[in-house]
Amino acid sequence: ETSRIAQPIGSALDRFIKNNQNQFQYASGELSQILRDIALASKVVNREVNKAGLIDIMGAVGSTNMAGDQQQKLDVLANIRFTRALAKGGEVAALISEESETYVDLNNDGKYVIAIDPLDGSSNIDVNVSIGTIFSVYRRKSPAGLPIQEEDILQKGSEQVAAGYILYGSSTMLVYTTGYGVNGFTYEPSLGEYFLSHPDMQMPDNGKIYSINEGLSNSFDTSVKEYLNDCKEKAFTARYIGSLVADFHRNLLKGGIYIYPPTAKDPKGKLRLMYECNALAFVAEQAGGKASDGRGGRILDIQPTGLHQRTPFFVGSKHMVEHAERFA
Ligand code: AHG
Ligand code: MN
Ligand code: MN
Ligand code: MN
Repeated sequence: ETSRIAQPIGSALDRFIKNNQNQFQYASGELSQILRDIALASKVVNREVNKAGLIDIMGAVGSTNMAGDQQQKLDVLANIRFTRALAKGGEVAALISEESETYVDLNNDGKYVIAIDPLDGSSNIDVNVSIGTIFSVYRRKSPAGLPIQEEDILQKGSEQVAAGYILYGSSTMLVYTTGYGVNGFTYEPSLGEYFLSHPDMQMPDNGKIYSINEGLSNSFDTSVKEYLNDCKEKAFTARYIGSLVADFHRNLLKGGIYIYPPTAKDPKGKLRLMYECNALAFVAEQAGGKASDGRGGRILDIQPTGLHQRTPFFVGSKHMVEHAERFA
């Protein structure tokens, strides 16, 4: 039996990872190295995010990605930083990214596949509002050494061996799980280190916050409209940042529900299964919360058929997600 956490508050991330390696499904330092590489890249991105207004990295590049999003300079920059950091280590065979049309081959000898939203909340970059990074780590199915196969890439969320996010907020945090609970680390910029600040995070079973882009409500299903009325009858608090990571993180700490339902513009919802929903669904479940498609389907059980596929996303406090589903 492994304990959920083997480190007190204030532990540096590196030490925490090392002391909890026995929790990893595959006894090796490889997953530890991947987590360290992600942390390192996030520090570089954090530095760039922090001075975004001073150097010329705000605004759009002029190109669009697979999802049809206008790529911002920071989207592209963050993608380069994380790709580079993960390519160097050699543990990663392939990378799935919001900003790359197909997966990127890194090292055939690597045993892991990563899915990443390098910069989440692009529309908030230029206005100095919290943004994030979301990542999922999978073990490849085919033997290392061979070229990567489709079965390695299109894995269900339930196969994740680690997942988490970085929130570039009023302080920068790294929150992740390896399947033994969720731990949150706060970045101390003057020391250049993450320290354990939120051990064994638990999402309240209930809450009073609902987060949804209600400006789109004309095209919501009746079930979602009725659920929103229910929230209003209960005088719940509406909070929507428009950066999934930040909205999710707030609800994780305070209790709440985040919904991105089907809309006229995005009939399957806007959010992407492989590099947005799965990681947060894994974190939510590990913290005692719930993530579904709003109709009783568990996000982590969806078999992906494409890298950029979308899904309706209902995530947050367990009882709130269950209650919202009753309207469907
Ligand atoms: P990204 O910036 O990675 O493309 O993600 C944008 C997502 C997510 O961060 C956010 O919650 C959502 O888009 C907001 O969408 P709306 O503006 O339609 O509400
Ligand atoms: Mn985007
Ligand atoms: Mn995103
Ligand atoms: Mn993004």
